[in-house]
Amino acid sequence: MYDIIEKKRDGKILKEIEINYVIKNYVEHKIPDYQMSALLMAIYFKGMTIKESAALTMAMVNSGERINLEDITGIKVDKHSTGGVGDTTTIVLAPLVASVGVPVAKMSGRGLGHTGGTLDKLEAIPGFNIEISNEKFIKLVNEANLAVIGQTANLAPADKLLYSLRDVTATVNSIPLIASSIMSKKIASGADRLVLDVKTGKGAFMENPIDAKQLAKTMVEIGNSVGIKTVAVISNMEEPLGYAIGNALEIKEAVLTLKDRGPSDLTELCLNLGSQMVYLAEKTSSIEEARELLKENIKNGKALLKFKEFIKNQSGDPTVIDKPNKLSKAKYKTELISNESGYIKEITANEIGKAAMMLGAGRERKDSVINLAVGLVLHKKVGDFVKAGESLLTIHSEEEDVKLIKTILLNNIILTEEVVEKLPLIYEIIK
Ligand code: URA
Ligand code: CA
Repeated sequence: MYDIIEKKRDGKILKEIEINYVIKNYVEHKIPDYQMSALLMAIYFKGMTIKESAALTMAMVNSGERINLEDITGIKVDKHSTGGVGDTTTIVLAPLVASVGVPVAKMSGRGLGHTGGTLDKLEAIPGFNIEISNEKFIKLVNEANLAVIGQTANLAPADKLLYSLRDVTATVNSIPLIASSIMSKKIASGADRLVLDVKTGKGAFMENPIDAKQLAKTMVEIGNSVGIKTVAVISNMEEPLGYAIGNALEIKEAVLTLKDRGPSDLTELCLNLGSQMVYLAEKTSSIEEARELLKENIKNGKALLKFKEFIKNQSGDPTVIDKPNKLSKAKYKTELISNESGYIKEITANEIGKAAMMLGAGRERKDSVINLAVGLVLHKKVGDFVKAGESLLTIHSEEEDVKLIKTILLNNIILTEEVVEKLPLIYEIIK
């Protein structure tokens, strides 16, 4: 281990057997944290080549279970988002893509901090069960092209150990380490191909688009070099996605989107990511054709029907689709009134996400209990004009007193007199 640390410290390239040695022995507690910390810091400063990052990824994959989806017919394409605020994409995308005949076998996680998780959102549907057996999961995907399951398997345990160590040694923010961490979990969960939604902006892990692009390129190259065709879409997370932030509120927004009446940014991102998925699954011979297919299934109601079937298959109440009022509702609704007139220049995603978390929509710590009904619904987005006295958003809360939340929100919705040009939603697609 000493020699490996020294080698990386001096900027040399580690061999695959050296990386395998480190991961295997670290997981078996034969390498102490102080040596592993030193190696992580050396990687932080000296970086890793794609070959090294791919070797690290596979070493972490091999440290635990790898889900076998071979019993599912067809090409399985998974989608992963690096995390955002009000990111309702998966809820729309999963039934939409499944409705054109692409199998979607999704393993999802819960939210932490200002970013939400798909499992929490699905659990806002009364009765919805994500704790299904692997057999049932595979059966449902074969029959209905769609199932979502919680992460119960022991996926990439090396990543869990390393992530905890990185968290306390100031080595989280290293592109090869982030890329191999994310890719190890995705590869272990069994997909054949992968579409990554790499967010950039104030609400994202990678604030700066240049870093986001570097991370996206690294993940795409790792995926492709280990035989998992991977595409990354770099998308904007300066302001929250869509209008709704909060679990039940986002389910409602997803239903509207599947009815072709959703927010334009959420709809566009779903069509963009979805067409990459359908094309990667070899359902169409071009991205454009895939996009038309998806648009058609929103217009003809097939995507919505698929969502209904999916809810029913996992013991949820499918009538919430026609009667969204059946979703749990917060006790209080309060409008946030704008004191001035102007164009909206900024709706700071991470701060808005934190405000939603303070209401109870998200977890401060892993063991925090969340409230599925609370959250925020924006009425304006960046670039819109607001008149003094108009409502900027509605606060859905459990407590009557929302003074503090109002102050935080007002400080993070910035107005200007000049017309504001919106940032692009999609920056780039990396193949
Ligand atoms: N998300 C991950 O899963 N891993 C990282 O290292 C950073 C973000
Ligand atoms: Ca949303």
